[in-house]
Amino acid sequence: LVTSQASQSKHYWRPSFGIAFDIDGVILRGREPIGGSPQALRRLYGDSGIFRVPFLLLTNGGGIPESKRAAELSDLLGVNILPSQVVQGHSPFKNFLKRYENELVVATGKGDPALVMSEYGFKKVLSLDEYASYFKDIDPVSQYKMWTTKQVVERSGHWMDIVSNHNVLSNKVKAVFIVSDPVDWGRDIQVLCDILGSGGLPGCGDSGHQPPLYFAADDLEYQAAFPSERLGMGAFRIALESIFNRIHHNQLQYVSFGKPNPFVFNNAESILSQLELSCRTDHLKEHDEIGSPRFNTLYMIGDNPLVDIKGARQAGNPWVSILTRTGVFRGQHNHAEFPADLVVDTVEEAVDYILQKEC
Ligand code: G3P
Ligand code: MG
Repeated sequence: LVTSQASQSKHYWRPSFGIAFDIDGVILRGREPIGGSPQALRRLYGDSGIFRVPFLLLTNGGGIPESKRAAELSDLLGVNILPSQVVQGHSPFKNFLKRYENELVVATGKGDPALVMSEYGFKKVLSLDEYASYFKDIDPVSQYKMWTTKQVVERSGHWMDIVSNHNVLSNKVKAVFIVSDPVDWGRDIQVLCDILGSGGLPGCGDSGHQPPLYFAADDLEYQAAFPSERLGMGAFRIALESIFNRIHHNQLQYVSFGKPNPFVFNNAESILSQLELSCRTDHLKEHDEIGSPRFNTLYMIGDNPLVDIKGARQAGNPWVSILTRTGVFRGQHNHAEFPADLVVDTVEEAVDYILQKEC
């Protein structure tokens, strides 16, 4: 807490700290709130229902637009989460808009990856489900699958023109985005090897450079509803890379986003600075310096030492890491390779510690 003595007698609220919460294994397991997360988050709000401590949800997960995810989280947790408080693994993909806005790009993963990308502004995006449906027999085992895939959805009039002209079959894919955890690994690996190994057009041999491939995150495992960890996007990347490198002479080229990359933490810091401005009391808004605040401390509360804790440690000052025992990490003491600044049982305990220390 920073207090301002603009008037001799009164102190004004201006938080000098912020919090980044991991979601899977800290706030939720599957769709179930865990570790007292609803109560913990409620403590960050004032009577008016507006948060008084700047915080955000910093997850490597995703698959739906940030606005929908915020609404879903608000529902599950009983607090009002703003879209600007949700940073998902794929959120940095919006920075590629300039480069691929009008290019054919393919997106895959659970949820609605093409909707995510089209909400960022990409005009010619197809999900891998949609893309594969244009290539007869591309998946030789599709008839044994018990589910059906979605057909092309209209996202803009312009895009429908392109699809109806069968341009998909003659245009090269310019980039591939792995937005969230892939659902049909076998089909995705097959079609991605086709796209990436052919220079962007399945079935036309090996004719050109591999289109850029972007992963939203690289988590080997994460905590979902099942008692033990589940394979994450990093596991899928290893599978794709191993197979691609066996069948093509060039090594797979890719870029992975998400924690523990330092830029995720720098970006979180600047979002928290924006959020901090809305926490200042009206008096401070009028009299205090308007410039961006420099936080004394930013807390990262996570369950995965290799992702959340490693990331916060690498980011350095003002980041402080808190490891919970509700997800990937279950150890009694600290993690040996990436020890956190503090280990607690639950997110509620973490918030308790922070508020006692800061307020
Ligand atoms: O798919 C989600 C997973 O990779 C990690 O999510 O919230 O623990 O960063 P989170
Ligand atoms: Mg997690």
